[in-house]
Amino acid sequence: MFRYLYIDQVSSTNDYAKELGLQGDNNIAVIAKEQTKGKGRLGRSFSSRQNNGLYLSLLFQPEDPLLVPVIAALSVYQVIAKYSRDPVSIKWPNDILVKMSPADKYKKICGILCESFVREKRFHVICGIGINIANDFSEELKDIATCLQDHCDFDGTAGELGQEICRIFETLMQKEKPQLIAEYKSHLRNLNRKVRVLKGQDEIIGTCTDLNEKGELLIQTAQGEQITVHSGEVSIRDL
Ligand code: BTN
Repeated sequence: MFRYLYIDQVSSTNDYAKELGLQGDNNIAVIAKEQTKGKGRLGRSFSSRQNNGLYLSLLFQPEDPLLVPVIAALSVYQVIAKYSRDPVSIKWPNDILVKMSPADKYKKICGILCESFVREKRFHVICGIGINIANDFSEELKDIATCLQDHCDFDGTAGELGQEICRIFETLMQKEKPQLIAEYKSHLRNLNRKVRVLKGQDEIIGTCTDLNEKGELLIQTAQGEQITVHSGEVSIRDL
């Protein structure tokens, strides 16, 4: 389904895919060797040095937009878990983490940024996937990020890694929602853990009890209140 476009350098593969989508393109996978303005969630930047990672954006019109982050996280999870010597986990909503060995600590190997736009009354999604491949991190990232080369027996190119993710993505799009949610939940690191939820200046502390059919997280606060957290502008931290 996806047609591949390979680029050496681009500001952001998400922005490039959106430009193409606004001109009428659809079902494309953009893969770049370098991004000069890689974007992360919540307005953050995403470090995207040359040949240091996989920078991939998928542009398509999903049947159920709420399932896109779930499918994206599962696709990356499956590919990393296939090659990794260490346990892999999903951190809600769609970071992929790998366990550091021998320390009992998980670090981030992949981030996902889903964006959308409407053209001619049709809802389009851009699903951006960034995987750290080489261990070339800034001081700031060293403590929280890890990379494919440190955990995986993968000797292909970033492009081949991207194609493998796209193939799994296409397969998962055929699956029913309950099966996808159950599969995602089975790899979710946050379940039954205490977390701090940050939304702007607001902070909620509680325990993650479940994930609903929209991919939202259910949190039980210390006061006994049950709240539903949508991924939009929220970040969560382990406590
Ligand atoms: C995050 O961790 O906050 C999300 C990071 C998403 C990064 C990917 S790299 C490919 C695509 N293009 C971007 O500018 N961002 C996404």
